[in-house]
Amino acid sequence: MSTTDHIIDISAVWTRYGNTVIHRDLTLSVNYGEVMAIIGGSGSGKTTLLRLMLGLEAPSRGTIKVFDVPLQGCTVADLRQTRNRWGVLFQEGALFSALSVFDNVALPLRELKALPEDVIRELVMMKLDLVEIDAMSANKMPSELSGGMVKRVALARALALNPELLFLDEPTAGLDPERSHGFVQLIESLRRALNLTVVMVTHDVDTLLALSDRVAVLANQQLLTVGPLWEIVHHPDPFVQNFFLGHIKRCEQENVKDFRDKLAVGLHVA
Ligand SMILES: Nc1ncnc2c1ncn2[C@@H]1O[C@H](COP(=O)(O)OP(=O)(O)O)[C@@H](O)[C@H]1O
Ligand SMILES: [Mg+2]
Repeated sequence: MSTTDHIIDISAVWTRYGNTVIHRDLTLSVNYGEVMAIIGGSGSGKTTLLRLMLGLEAPSRGTIKVFDVPLQGCTVADLRQTRNRWGVLFQEGALFSALSVFDNVALPLRELKALPEDVIRELVMMKLDLVEIDAMSANKMPSELSGGMVKRVALARALALNPELLFLDEPTAGLDPERSHGFVQLIESLRRALNLTVVMVTHDVDTLLALSDRVAVLANQQLLTVGPLWEIVHHPDPFVQNFFLGHIKRCEQENVKDFRDKLAVGLHVA
């Protein structure tokens, strides 16, 4: 597989805060069209890894390319242009509390400084519709929304510029199981409809089961393993074994389901 099949290439990356090493020689690629999940204990460097991929943080060594653009080493103009090709849903839902739902979603469109207000209005209402937020809620303030609605509005804002790539940090954190399930279903249907590549941090096995094509495991500053769920669940590391405790059968069944899906659409199955 040539590097151009990769939407993201992380190569031999070290990240340090002072004397503390967060990532030690980490190499990981994300393929176009896949959902790559990142798991790891609290403080294992998952969010930092996302921030590296977003160009918000620089590694102390190694390189990170997104869309074949090296995030260090590229021009400010290139970085700005590249940033417009991805959307991000941060861990804390992250709506601006002083802005209405409408203005939150309009923000990335307004920052382009290229679109007239009536076009922006139409695009915002389209994105809200996409995430199943009714038009009546457009004028609400974030404080008037339920947790599930905040997530959906934040997702609408992440999708405002029609990104090809979506980053999600703990997308279902803080949602009850029912809302969490609904939100994961929404991400799955949007991913298919919009042809998205997704990089997602999660600690939720149900989210992994519903969405992930491959799972990367961070432990001891390194990438422990990467592969489909039914493979990585058998990794002997205690973190992996504890994480999937009681879920191994379900994860193995994903293999069977995936096999059937591929047969159903007539793909070659090795
Ligand atoms: N800006 C920073 N300065 C110093 N230490 C940081 C900074 N950001 C994160 N860390 C530390 O890096 C480690 C990894 O953090 P993080 O990536 O947020 O972990 P995770 O998302 O896996 O819980 C933690 O020990 C955290 O305290
Ligand atoms: Mg985190």
